[in-house]
Amino acid sequence: MKKILITGGAGFIGSHVVRRFVQNYPDYQIVNLDKLTYAGNLANLTDIENAPNYRFVKEDITDAVAMSDLFGKENFDAVIHLAAESHVDRSITDPTAFVMTNVIGTVNLLNAAREHWKGEYDQKRFYHVSTDEVYGALGEEGMFTETTAYDPHSPYSASKASSDHFVRAYHDTYGMDCVISNCSNNYGSHHFPEKLIPLAINNIKNNKPVPVYGKGENVRDWLWVEDHARAIDVIFHQSKTGDTYNIGGHNEWKNIDLIHLLCEIMDEKLGREKGESAKLITYVTDRAGHDLRYAIDSTKLQNQLAWVPSLQFEEGLAKTVDWYLQNEAWLNNVTSGNYQSYYDKQYSEK
Ligand code: NAD
Ligand code: TYD
Repeated sequence: MKKILITGGAGFIGSHVVRRFVQNYPDYQIVNLDKLTYAGNLANLTDIENAPNYRFVKEDITDAVAMSDLFGKENFDAVIHLAAESHVDRSITDPTAFVMTNVIGTVNLLNAAREHWKGEYDQKRFYHVSTDEVYGALGEEGMFTETTAYDPHSPYSASKASSDHFVRAYHDTYGMDCVISNCSNNYGSHHFPEKLIPLAINNIKNNKPVPVYGKGENVRDWLWVEDHARAIDVIFHQSKTGDTYNIGGHNEWKNIDLIHLLCEIMDEKLGREKGESAKLITYVTDRAGHDLRYAIDSTKLQNQLAWVPSLQFEEGLAKTVDWYLQNEAWLNNVTSGNYQSYYDKQYSEK
């Protein structure tokens, strides 16, 4: 019997992690803590919300007192920490929100664990979910390994880098059992349509322009979100204390090539003429400080813990499109309200 706190479980990746743990480990109690920001959505978890080993707690990780009280009350065995502000463009507009949640929020959780797990650090685990963006940008060659020096450029990646450093500091200073993974770009179902793939799917579906930043030559390494959740499961259960793993898909795509592939898939699924959706591609002003290329070397994870990605990108992307087309109510719900004003502000000046 284990009681695990998963933070950010109502978000994109967090909901896949929560679902996996609730379904695969019926003897664990899973407590999902989420503030339900614009990105958090309990509709992501309707299929497991009544499971006997699942509970939701609405809290804000920036509230230090609430975090300490919760740890005092619950006696968690472990934390899997995903709660974060996660969108680079929003971090450019409002960096402070990223410092508050990603840095202060993480330190609040670490402090609560430090206080309430004292004397038992070897029986507890703090797993911090991070990003490859902490390593900065690559040129045409090379890949990020676990020993690549941190060199974040955006306020988002700077805040995640800072939180990673705090997690390592609590391991090194207090002897807490901390583990970190740094993953490449995820894609799949329940992805909020401010990020490239779901935004493009939504726009193509609605015959709206598909905004491509700059020349579309930036490269990202895309991983199926369920493969990320499986990697987190494996690392959570099998890694050594203080360890770090890179997680990636060995699946690099230039943005413009990805968008063309997506347009082809959408033409087919929507019964449009070949080339119809690609007419929506619109080049817009580049993102400030736009990292050219990310690529993850996940050899350590593959060799040590036998994890490999399960899906080819073309298959995963087609499955993702199917999910969005079959879940119109979900998409309509998350794009109603504040989404439109965010979208207008973000793209009107481009
Ligand atoms: P997301 O934005 O979809 O979800 C974040 C969740 O955190 C939301 O449910 C939100 O309500 C919650 N949250 C935000 N602020 C909070 C606060 N103050 N207190 C409590 N909950 C709060 O993000 P995601 O894409 O699912 O990313 C999850 C984690 O994985 C993040 O830590 C992110 O840095 C990391 N990551 C994401 C990617 C990616 O491609 N999306 C890749 C690598 C790592
Ligand atoms: P995004 O999904 O925001 O992830 P990240 O910035 O964390 O990698 O963006 C993926 C890539 O797509 C990135 O190079 C920026 C680019 N992009 C566009 O070209 N147009 C868009 O409207 C968005 C949101 C992103």
